[in-house]
Amino acid sequence: MTDIAPSADALHALVEGSGAINVGSHAIEVHGLEKHYGDYHALRDINLTIPSGSLTALLGPSGSGKSTLLRAIAGLEVPDGGTVIIGGSDVTYVPPQEREIGFVFQHYAAFKHMTVRDNVGFGPSIRKQPKAEIAKRVDELLEIVGLGGYQERYPSQLSGGQRQRMALARALAVHPKVLLLDEPFGALDAKVRDDLRQWLRQLQSETGVTTVLVTHDQEEALDVADHIAVLNEGRIEQWGSPREVYETPANTFVMSFLGPTAKLRGELVRPHDLVLSKRQIDDAVPVTVERVVHLGFEVRVELRDGESTDLSAQITRGEASRLELAVGDQIYVRPGLHVDPVAPDSAQPAPGLEKTSA
Ligand SMILES: Nc1ncnc2c1ncn2[C@@H]1O[C@H](COP(=O)(O)OP(=O)(O)OP(=O)(O)O)[C@@H](O)[C@H]1O
Ligand SMILES: [Mg+2]
Repeated sequence: MTDIAPSADALHALVEGSGAINVGSHAIEVHGLEKHYGDYHALRDINLTIPSGSLTALLGPSGSGKSTLLRAIAGLEVPDGGTVIIGGSDVTYVPPQEREIGFVFQHYAAFKHMTVRDNVGFGPSIRKQPKAEIAKRVDELLEIVGLGGYQERYPSQLSGGQRQRMALARALAVHPKVLLLDEPFGALDAKVRDDLRQWLRQLQSETGVTTVLVTHDQEEALDVADHIAVLNEGRIEQWGSPREVYETPANTFVMSFLGPTAKLRGELVRPHDLVLSKRQIDDAVPVTVERVVHLGFEVRVELRDGESTDLSAQITRGEASRLELAVGDQIYVRPGLHVDPVAPDSAQPAPGLEKTSA
């Protein structure tokens, strides 16, 4: 557990006591969403249901439309077509401030001249809530995000991770129905990112606020999300649980984006699904060992086949010592039996999605 973990008591108070987070059904539905920027088609027939109380990740490469989709859900972009429904109400043309959302921006935005207290209390204060109530709420939220006692500091006096937690407190201050996070930890180093990820996961599961997290980091999505929507060029390629998208990718894009791949006889497989042997078995492919790299528990074996194609296999340390692999060895490789390889030209429909027009 990290030192920034919210206490169970604090979270309980947030949900039960102050009625801070709305309970009830706050699913998000997106139907046939379209967005153009001039000639550029940024969102193409997006259909997606984000269950109430879940944490859904929008995962995809840079430029795939993640922020555009999140901003359309928030009301910060007006779509050219389609609808956005939050908690059963059509909000497609409702302005953002009336959608009861909390938003954390991709590029960190704080009021530099305001203290942490005033930054976090900004939303409630423009909504003209009583000062005493705002002060109480701000203190509560800062406690929850691990910034109790930081009220009078300025954003420039916080670390990157602390600033992002302040941004989260600010997003939660307005009693949001849904929490929309655009790469909230993008600029932070790996360790802080990982801590904040676990922290967000705990905050989310205990408050039950419907959360959409944009990320281009597959590990982050696999780690925290209940569901992942994989975006590419303005389309959703697949929607499913982390396991579904990882283990049964709908196509080569999803397969390649979610983890390392190796190509064997024209088929994509995961390096850890390759089986190595010293004897010829079935239709295994003969290869030469080029390099053996020990990476702690795992061993990466770099191989070259007869057509001079390189491929890497990932095996355990035990397996590597059993095989006694040496550079230059002639061995055999085949895909493991527990996962179906994906043929490069197979593009099955994405499970979990409504039928979309081509
Ligand atoms: N205001 C705009 N005007 C013109 N084009 C835009 C605008 N906003 C986004 N785009 C284009 O739409 C596409 C999708 O952008 P978007 O910001 O949604 O991508 P993203 O998936 O969030 O990428 P990143 O991971 O880099 O943040 C990009 O090609 C981008 O250049
Ligand atoms: Mg973006």
